[in-house]
Amino acid sequence: INIQTLRVATNGVITIDPGYKNTGSCESAVTFLDGEKGILRYRGYAIEELAEKADFLETAYALIFGNLPTKVELEKFHSDIKSHSLVDDDVRKILEAFPKTAHPMGVLSSLTSALTAFNPSSVDINSREEMYSAIVRILAKFPVLVGWTMRKKKGLHLNYGKNSLGYVENIMYMMFKQPNEDFEVNPIIKNALDKLLILHADHEQNCSTSTVRIVGSSHAGLFASLSAGISALWGPLHGGANQAVLEMLEAIKEDGGDTKKYMAKAKDKNDPFRLMGFGHRVYKNFDPRAKIIKKAADEVLNDLGVNDPILEIAKGLEQEALSDPYFVDRKLYPNVDFYSGIIYRAMGIPTDMFTVMFALGRLPGWIAQWKEMRLRKEPIGRPRQIYTGENYREFVDLEKR
Ligand code: ACO
Repeated sequence: INIQTLRVATNGVITIDPGYKNTGSCESAVTFLDGEKGILRYRGYAIEELAEKADFLETAYALIFGNLPTKVELEKFHSDIKSHSLVDDDVRKILEAFPKTAHPMGVLSSLTSALTAFNPSSVDINSREEMYSAIVRILAKFPVLVGWTMRKKKGLHLNYGKNSLGYVENIMYMMFKQPNEDFEVNPIIKNALDKLLILHADHEQNCSTSTVRIVGSSHAGLFASLSAGISALWGPLHGGANQAVLEMLEAIKEDGGDTKKYMAKAKDKNDPFRLMGFGHRVYKNFDPRAKIIKKAADEVLNDLGVNDPILEIAKGLEQEALSDPYFVDRKLYPNVDFYSGIIYRAMGIPTDMFTVMFALGRLPGWIAQWKEMRLRKEPIGRPRQIYTGENYREFVDLEKR
């Protein structure tokens, strides 16, 4: 429909849809999601198959370029990424200036934006080559920032990574190891991390992705758009939920493990408490990612020989919610982040780094959506409003007010 024709035909009527609950912002060929049936596919590939058979880099390639890569394509992609893994030392100095208490998401968002200054070619993007160059740069440097953010927080030496390692192995190395320390990949952790990153890699027009698209629609640079996406992801109603879930489960444990008490709080409309990790804007039967993650949490804890009482509390809450009319009527089920924190914790990742791990996984999705938005030459995102303020008011001089 021609928007001009529509405006004339409706006499300038504006639709209002707070939270965009029923408003499509774009056409997209990246991710298919059916919230009623619990289906999620990237570029047509089922999330269950990707989590089982693919690794994170292959999935990233598929999201960004549309197809699973051939061996040659994947090797070239990885080699291009590796050739950009150096992060300017001045970025490290910016990191050093943050207090240890800074939340890692704030640090990550700032550093991602700061990268623009050291990679000015990532801003004015007018060709596919320039686009590709900006994409491989950020895929290379972002994991370095993630590793640095965690190590700085823990007061450890920063690790610049090793190009001989695989993409995900290198992430593990940069997060958990001292520079040049011996490193042997633990296949259980590698496999679980691949799965978690894949399951978080895209989710169509969620809050952070819409943010990336809308910031990018003004032709701000890729890194600045991603930095805005990281800030959007930070909030507890979005990516920050994984940290909030673990803190909630801890609090329930400390309080004696009485899950019923917390179920009652969640249902009490006078209590702001919500059962974190429950509910989703689009999934109204189950979140297919949660199913896979719940199984992975069981496996990882079992394989690592970790006995975490928090897993039992989580399962207890889920069980109660499944038969509670409040949760059933509102179609509130565990979402992707209900079990992810339990796995991150078993891996030795601090709670306030959980949302950073989410950002690491979501990076290819944000990039794919930004790339699509730019290639489709979408117009600048600029919603309308219905004005409810004063009409006209006389200006009163300061002395007379
Ligand atoms: N605990 C208790 N009640 C809830 C919860 C919850 N976790 N989630 C929704 N509800 C209730 C609401 O109070 C509301 O009840 P009402 O109809 O009686 O007023 C009803 O269910 C609908 O909830 P809305 O907030 O209107 O649903 P919306 O689609 O706007 O929000 C959201 C979805 C933000 C995910 C919400 O369910 C929530 O806050 N969940 C907890 C936070 C969370 O886990 N976020 C992560 C989402 S997944 C992700 O971003 C990766």
